[in-house]
Amino acid sequence: MQFYSLQTFAFLLALLCCALIRAGCLNFSYPTFRDKVDDKDFIISTNSSIAFNAIQVTHDATQASINNESGRFLYKKRFRLWGDGRRNKASFSTTFEINISNKTNPGAEGLAFILTANSTLPENSNGQWLGIVNANSNGSDRAKIVAVEFDTSKSYEQDLDDNHVGVDVNSIYSRKQESLTRYGIRLSSGVSYAVTIQYDSQNLTIFVFHTKETGEQMKDQVLSLPLNLSDYLPEKVYVGFSASTGNNTQLNCIQSWNFTSSHIDENPNLLWVWIAIPAAVVMVLLAGVASYFYWRRQRENKLLEDAFPRIEDEIQSTAMAPKKFKLKELQRATGRFNPKNKLGKGGFGTVYKGLLGNKEIAVKRVSKDSHQGKQEFIAEVTTIGSLRHKNLVKLIGWCYESHELLIVYELMPNGSLDRFLFGDDKLGREMEELPLSWRRRHSIISGVAQALDYLHNGCEKRVLHRDIKASNIMLDSDFTARLGDFGLARTLQQSEVTHHSTKEIAGTLGYMAPETFLTARATVETDVYAFGVLVLEVVCGRRPAGNQLEQSNYNNSIVYWLWDLYSRGKILDAVDSRLEGDTDEDDIVSVLTLGLACCHPNPHQRPSMRTVLKVLRREADLPSLPTERPAFVWPSMPPSFKQDTESDLDGGRLTPFSEISGR
Ligand SMILES: *[C@@H]1O[C@H](CO)[C@@H](O)[C@H](O)[C@H]1NC(C)=O
Ligand SMILES: *[C@@H]1O[C@H](CO)[C@@H](O)[C@H](O)[C@H]1NC(C)=O
Ligand SMILES: *[C@@H]1O[C@H](CO)[C@@H](O)[C@H](O)[C@H]1NC(C)=O
Ligand SMILES: *[C@@H]1O[C@H](CO)[C@@H](O)[C@H](O)[C@H]1NC(C)=O
Ligand SMILES: *[C@@H]1O[C@H](CO)[C@@H](O)[C@H](O)[C@H]1NC(C)=O
Ligand SMILES: *[C@@H]1O[C@H](CO)[C@@H](O)[C@H](O)[C@H]1NC(C)=O
Ligand SMILES: *[C@@H]1O[C@H](CO)[C@@H](O)[C@H](O)[C@H]1NC(C)=O
Ligand SMILES: *[C@@H]1O[C@H](CO)[C@@H](O)[C@H](O)[C@H]1NC(C)=O
Ligand SMILES: *[C@@H]1O[C@H](CO)[C@@H](O)[C@H](O)[C@H]1NC(C)=O
Ligand SMILES: *[C@@H]1O[C@H](CO)[C@@H](O)[C@H](O)[C@H]1NC(C)=O
Ligand SMILES: *[C@@H]1O[C@H](CO)[C@@H](O)[C@H](O)[C@H]1NC(C)=O
Repeated sequence: MQFYSLQTFAFLLALLCCALIRAGCLNFSYPTFRDKVDDKDFIISTNSSIAFNAIQVTHDATQASINNESGRFLYKKRFRLWGDGRRNKASFSTTFEINISNKTNPGAEGLAFILTANSTLPENSNGQWLGIVNANSNGSDRAKIVAVEFDTSKSYEQDLDDNHVGVDVNSIYSRKQESLTRYGIRLSSGVSYAVTIQYDSQNLTIFVFHTKETGEQMKDQVLSLPLNLSDYLPEKVYVGFSASTGNNTQLNCIQSWNFTSSHIDENPNLLWVWIAIPAAVVMVLLAGVASYFYWRRQRENKLLEDAFPRIEDEIQSTAMAPKKFKLKELQRATGRFNPKNKLGKGGFGTVYKGLLGNKEIAVKRVSKDSHQGKQEFIAEVTTIGSLRHKNLVKLIGWCYESHELLIVYELMPNGSLDRFLFGDDKLGREMEELPLSWRRRHSIISGVAQALDYLHNGCEKRVLHRDIKASNIMLDSDFTARLGDFGLARTLQQSEVTHHSTKEIAGTLGYMAPETFLTARATVETDVYAFGVLVLEVVCGRRPAGNQLEQSNYNNSIVYWLWDLYSRGKILDAVDSRLEGDTDEDDIVSVLTLGLACCHPNPHQRPSMRTVLKVLRREADLPSLPTERPAFVWPSMPPSFKQDTESDLDGGRLTPFSEISGR
């Protein structure tokens, strides 16, 4: 990128230098003038035009009246007369053919070649003023005009005659004049004459001669005078013609015109150098800074990518890669993520309902801004994508396009479990009325237990879900529980490793085992604890501890409340009132006790999911449970923690964890 900008910059600088050097040079040639074609090259005043292949400086003969007219006809581009504080002066040479024919006897008033700062024709510059100045500006330095006049009438006393050439500076008074009569020239005779005006930066010299047609080609120097144009004119001037008529009239035509000028000395205007060089330096610096930032960003991107291999590769490398969808397909399926199709909003995105063919789907749209979102996405697609179990939400596919991270699931018609347990704000009481009988609740608990057992013990690599809670349990049409939301799930690659370490505490408060706050570590035991809380919820129809982010409020949790009732032998008081009438009290008590056992403060006292399943199936006895809730003692040293407990304890004191990410 920096090479590009430097090249471009150098090129621009070269162009600029060229432009600076060339600016002084004006060079053009019109052997004839084409009506309506060449107009664009000139600044043309009213009553002036190109007609009959000539410049008509005042109206041509087609006009009924051409009395009291003046006109100007100037080349559009200005000519640089001097530069570099007047030390560099241009020289020029111009040749034009004039044809003045009298329309009265005698004709009037005259024609002039002009160099002027102001392209505008002065008002009331007709008659004797020849379109050069007017009564106001005659003799004023402000006029800034130098003219070579071809005067065809003797307007005032100092005028030599009605057929002379003169050099005027800021007035119609001629500094020097010369009659043409003795050169055999009659200006207003309708004959073409060629005029050459040369300026060598000191002397202005005028030649008038008959054109080729006459065959003479005699070039007579009529007039020459020393003149410092830079004393009267600005750096840049317009060049061209002016003319006028008065009581008497004539046609003032220019039939051809060429103009050449010297380069102003090669060393360019110092002012420009002083502007251009600092500008160049600034631009180089800016380009450098820009490239640096660009480079740094590129590097950061690369680092990010290295640390975080490309999403697609990562997903495709898993054994049972789920289907990759096109963003368009999913947009169509969800009505462009129409808010009407919104099913819910979770920790890492919004879930939309969609229709893919005839199949109803749920599309989870991961919030795009967070880097964490990306990680969640990969975790979810890779873990759940390679798992098949009747109690797991089925992943259909995924999509990563235009920064959209989308996960496609089978749609669970009955939504999530929490709506049935605690009601739904939108559905109101209606939902609570729905029967969630003990049989159904038991089957839901068993379903989740089977799913967790499968994750912990049943599949190739041990998977920790890390976020078991009522809102992550989806219900199929027949109320089969399906565990979903694998955003926090982690796969343990080696079978002997039993925990997953992160630098932050993840999960949902109220479902987090007490040791999580100390170790920030996910283990099978922390999953079992969350499952225990879920069991208590399902049986009691009561949310776990509120959403307090304070660890001190931890003691208010459903676990404490229930253990208290348990120790007082009143555990049945906790059962959801909506279950009244369901008779299987023994079963309810057994499941509640099992739930409490899963919530044992000491991780290694909690039953495994395998044991939980056996108890639920009545294949094993309830684990023994102390009447009083044992105090939480740490370290409790469950077998799987032995290796690196040291790192978690700083000289026997507890290490505080800085980050808590609650959901
Ligand atoms: C001006 O143009 C003429 C030909 O039209 C050419 O010979 C001459 O070199 C040019 N002068 C400059 C300064 O470009
Ligand atoms: C232009 O020509 C018309 C008609 O001849 C005349 O009335 C008018 O004053 C002229 N304008 C100038 C600026 O000479
Ligand atoms: C032009 O001037 C000549 C004399 O120089 C005269 O004979 C002729 O009639 C004039 N033309 C017009 C149209 O007045
Ligand atoms: C140019 O001349 C016109 C007419 O005389 C005048 O109105 C205008 O102010 C002049 N412009 C400059 C820049 O002197
Ligand atoms: C025009 O100005 C000059 C001075 O530059 C003066 O000599 C001349 O008389 C003036 N002409 C008119 C007609 O005012
Ligand atoms: C000069 O102009 C008059 C009137 O426009 C025209 O009749 C004559 O042919 C022209 N002369 C030349 C040499 O073009
Ligand atoms: C300008 O003209 C004067 C005479 O008027 C002459 O002495 C001088 O050499 C000329 N300068 C140039 C550069 O032709
Ligand atoms: C023109 O300027 C030069 C100095 O740059 C000076 O010597 C010369 O006399 C001036 N000529 C006129 C006519 O003012
Ligand atoms: C133009 O003619 C009128 C009379 O028709 C006269 O009063 C006026 O002075 C004349 N103008 C000039 C500049 O000769
Ligand atoms: C031209 O203008 C003068 C005044 O400057 C006026 O007296 C004369 O009548 C005008 N001529 C024509 C033909 O309009
Ligand atoms: C300008 O025109 C004249 C006359 O037609 C011719 O002699 C001269 O060479 C031309 N100059 C240029 C630079 O075209």
